[in-house]
Formats: sequence, C-alpha cells, structure tokens
Amino acid sequence: MAVVKLIGRDGGESKLEALSGCPLMEALRDANIGVEGTCGGACSCGTCHVYVDAAWLDKLPPKTEDEQLMLEAIGDLVPLKPGSRLSCQIPMSEALEGLVVEIAPAL
Ligand code: FES
Repeated sequence: MAVVKLIGRDGGESKLEALSGCPLMEALRDANIGVEGTCGGACSCGTCHVYVDAAWLDKLPPKTEDEQLMLEAIGDLVPLKPGSRLSCQIPMSEALEGLVVEIAPAL
C-alpha cells in the first residue's frame, strides 16, 4: 500500500491509497475521479493519462514503446508534458509512497 497525492482536474488536492502490485490506474479508476481506464490496462486507450511530478519520474519504470506510441496518439487531443505517463503502466509499490500525480484532461 502506498499513499498517492493527487491533483484533480479542478486543481484540488487529495490523497489516495493504492495497493502494491496493482497498476496506479486501478486505484484511480476505482476512486471515480474521472480516470476511466477503458482498455483495462492494455496500453490502448489513453484514458489513464496522468502528469507525474518531476521529482518522481526517475523512480518509475521507463516507458515502453507501446506506452510512448499511445501517448503520442493522444497528444493531438490533450497537452503532453514531460511527466506524461499512462497510469496503467505504473505498478504501485511501497517505494512510491508519496508519489504526486496530476490527473490529465479527459480525452
Ligand atoms: S488503461 Fe487504457 S491506456 Fe491505460
């Protein structure tokens, strides 16, 4: 379990408990805060897009080619930032206690 600090689409801040071993997307989706995770984590919908705080980027697994391609695909619809990641590709662990993510705009 790790507690994640969230910045919502309205700029509001909240905290979310995310189970270790599960993708961050699942915790975000189950919290009903606007993250749909439509493809279930198959890296093919882009609805789990988040902006990861710069201080955390090097603590995450690197993007796969599939994740990079999906991010590029949604880049025509929503702004991409250096911290853009698909939250289904972020496996949670206790090492990510305090992770800071902003929910990206809806597609
Ligand atoms: S849940 Fe579809 S790309 Fe992450």
